[in-house]
Amino acid sequence: MSPKNGNKPRVLSGIQPSGNLTIGNYLGALKQWVAVQHEYDCFYCVVDLHAITAVQDPAELRLKTRESAAMYIAAGIDPEVSTVFVQSHIPAHSELAWMLTCMAPLGWLHRMTQFKDKSAKQAQESIGAGLLNYPSLMAADILLYHADFVPVGDDQNQHLEFTRDLAQRFNHLYGETFTLPSVMNPAAGARIMGLDNPTAKMSKSEASENHAIFLLDDPSRARKKVMRAVTDSRREIRFSQDPERAGVNNLLTIYQAITNEPTEAIQAAFADKGYGDLKRAVADTVAATLQPLQTRYNELMNEAGYLDSVLKIGREKAAEIAEDTLKLAQDRMGFLAPS
Ligand code: TRP
Repeated sequence: MSPKNGNKPRVLSGIQPSGNLTIGNYLGALKQWVAVQHEYDCFYCVVDLHAITAVQDPAELRLKTRESAAMYIAAGIDPEVSTVFVQSHIPAHSELAWMLTCMAPLGWLHRMTQFKDKSAKQAQESIGAGLLNYPSLMAADILLYHADFVPVGDDQNQHLEFTRDLAQRFNHLYGETFTLPSVMNPAAGARIMGLDNPTAKMSKSEASENHAIFLLDDPSRARKKVMRAVTDSRREIRFSQDPERAGVNNLLTIYQAITNEPTEAIQAAFADKGYGDLKRAVADTVAATLQPLQTRYNELMNEAGYLDSVLKIGREKAAEIAEDTLKLAQDRMGFLAPS
């Protein structure tokens, strides 16, 4: 097993560079990644190999990969504390993913709700095999680093379960090799939904104009999107799990995720207010969040060589661990070591 930095438990997570990062990525993932980085030995990657499970424009993918890494840092991830890297820079991810693919029962893969959802939206013949094998690659990401905890949204719990099952299967067949990871779900309520369709998770790859607030949206544009968010025809401003109240609940959730105020205090503050007041308050906190993030992002992108040097150091730190684990797994499976 690879030595862990000061015996801190290890954390690994990633976001696909398949579009522009949204306030959902920030409040549901990045903010939590930042919060745990001193307590855990953290590895945060830009998962470009996952992004190609849908066709990507090459120039766009390259750009989004850099932009995502810059946004991790702008959000507060300190590259001197956490390891920030690009998944495809470490060939061990692809190599272990193949080994795990060969062990992954088709039945398990077909049962993944993300696969079912995504494949249902495409013609049968055009569904790439990568979409089905996506969880084996995610398992490789996690297992290569012996991650103890994986901060992900609850839509990824099934992939985490799959990773544990596959690791157990490998350990059982070939001897103790992988650490079984646990899920680290974000603090209650940090699941941000689409502003135009509050029963679906906010997505960076949804085309409609008022669906997502992007972290690089001009604050005035972000404001407009909040003001146009879908609500309902009632009046009461309360957190609610009622699907009909999902729009108001989502606005309150965004407000809470940014301000960290307790539920009761928020509900009391809006008790005699209207939806317009709620939207203005959310728009204010959102704009105040975006501004410093964008300033820092622009500095990072304009500082020649800085981002590349962060990714180079990240790559070296990640490769050391990943290559050790890969070698061990290859040996256990019976591959002849090159002399
Ligand atoms: N599947 C994750 C998502 O869409 C992204 C991801 C890929 C990931 N590899 C990972 C998350 C490893 C955590 C750990 O959100």
